[in-house]
Amino acid sequence: MSARKIIIDTDPGQDDAVAILLALASPQEIDLLGITCVAGNVPVSRTQINARIICELAGHRQIKVFAGRAAPLRRPLVTAEYVHGKTGLNGPELFEPTMPLQSQGGVEFIIETLRAEPAGSVTLCPLGPLSNIAEAFQSAPDIIGRVQEVVLMGGAYFEVGNITPAAEFNIFVDPEAANIVLKSGAPITMMPLDVTHKALTTRPRIEALRALDTPVGHFTAEMLDFFERFDIEKYGSEGGPLHDPCVIAYLIRPDLFSGRHINVEIETQSELTLGMTVADWWGVTDRPANALFMGDLDADGFFDLITQRLALL
Ligand code: RIB
Ligand code: CA
Repeated sequence: MSARKIIIDTDPGQDDAVAILLALASPQEIDLLGITCVAGNVPVSRTQINARIICELAGHRQIKVFAGRAAPLRRPLVTAEYVHGKTGLNGPELFEPTMPLQSQGGVEFIIETLRAEPAGSVTLCPLGPLSNIAEAFQSAPDIIGRVQEVVLMGGAYFEVGNITPAAEFNIFVDPEAANIVLKSGAPITMMPLDVTHKALTTRPRIEALRALDTPVGHFTAEMLDFFERFDIEKYGSEGGPLHDPCVIAYLIRPDLFSGRHINVEIETQSELTLGMTVADWWGVTDRPANALFMGDLDADGFFDLITQRLALL
């Protein structure tokens, strides 16, 4: 089977970084057409640097990296340095990337690529706020029908929110963007906190990465050493949820995941529940299903996949 063409839209972020590494380590399954960066965990001026650091670390200087939106569609930016550190990649010693940032804007790249590639052959993989994807869909509605699938990390139902009691960070930062994407009609698969909170970076899992004894293995272990501290303290869990790699792992091993095709709506009006993903998991409404909403994963299989693939970089 030929490799799947994807665009990763991202706000690195340690967990985004592991997702990018997993994609780069899986050329049999993934043809990474480009990385578009968005403001989220940290400003886009930093996420575009972080994306290039990860590509250089992995020995993939050829990857096209683009800067996208610096802010949500209609709201001021909310960032998460309290989780990811000021750089967004706190933990390992960072270096200044030397590979180029593309001069084209990330949103323009998404539109141009979807128009140029055969219809139905490109999957969009948003790992941060949906600002770039929504702007692309709004300014070029013709591309929506050309999208093979949107596989995104975002939302929550049984797990409720992580930045407010009701909302998950990626959706909360740009709820209008999420509403545009969820209502677009494009095929959507969601990796909400319901599944990512079952993908915890336990100590043995991080030590297995460090034991690779490679630059990628050490860098990743040091990222996760830093990244997990916030969730361990907040939830009293034995590790931090490795959110974004669930998107890429799904493309490689969909059998690791399970969920339901249901209706998911986005709260954009109430200040109390802004950004909530109202997921009709029990089918109590007649609202049409618009997303495959994941609820569970084989966590050991997930981490084995990550460790085995990152060993190849
Ligand atoms: O809520 C978790 C999500 O927000 C992840 O994508 C993390 O990287 C942050 O962007
Ligand atoms: Ca992210």
